[in-house]
Amino acid sequence: MLLDLSPDELLSTTRAVRRRLDVSRPVEREVLEECFRLAQQAPTASFRQNWHFLVVTEPEGRAALGELWREGARAYVARPEHASATGQLARILDAVRHLIEHIDEVPVHVIPCIEGRTEDEPTRVQSSKWASIIPAAWSFMLAARARGLGSVWTSFHLAREREAAELLGIPYEQVMQAALIPVAYTFGTDFKAGPRRPLDTVLHWDAW
Ligand SMILES: Cc1cc2nc3c(=O)[nH]c(=O)nc-3n(C[C@H](O)[C@H](O)[C@H](O)COP(=O)(O)O)c2cc1C
Repeated sequence: MLLDLSPDELLSTTRAVRRRLDVSRPVEREVLEECFRLAQQAPTASFRQNWHFLVVTEPEGRAALGELWREGARAYVARPEHASATGQLARILDAVRHLIEHIDEVPVHVIPCIEGRTEDEPTRVQSSKWASIIPAAWSFMLAARARGLGSVWTSFHLAREREAAELLGIPYEQVMQAALIPVAYTFGTDFKAGPRRPLDTVLHWDAW
């Protein structure tokens, strides 16, 4: 079922959801498939779709993946500059700590993947690769939000990408993982627009 959200509301309220993921509620495969079908409509640099989504729902896979994810998350939380975090960063760190406790309980782990690796590639090639998978992944996250699902783009497990590839049977040399997106229904569906810098500090007209 779709939430009653205008396109602008959807775009401004699709937040990084960590604490409000309801891990006790199963997510229907058909709902996820609807989201992925919509994600497939995103633009792709290649003449054919050269990206994939790997969806992990079985508990053993999520537990093993969760261990790799936790390692990166713990290292992030423990960064020296985070010891004195305040405001928005402190809230993010708290939310990450919460997800460290629950990552393997989140019913769906989505790994967006792209064919080819970008190590040692020029910027032009890197850009084409990343910009082929990320719009699709974001479309998936928007479609999920429209259906009452929350998600968060995370890169924590990528420090152990090779181990994750072995675990999941991804051919590491040919296929690069872009993220791990935990997905679950949310506690409540009301989300607000996030804090952002004033537009005139990031928007440049005609010259920088
Ligand atoms: C490239 C990228 C990498 C990110 N990596 C992580 C991550 O590893 N772990 C995490 O918890 N959130 C991660 N995030 C989520 C950001 O922290 C989140 O988008 C930010 O807090 C803004 O959230 P908001 O839209 O709800 O304000 C990442 C986001 C992006 C775009």
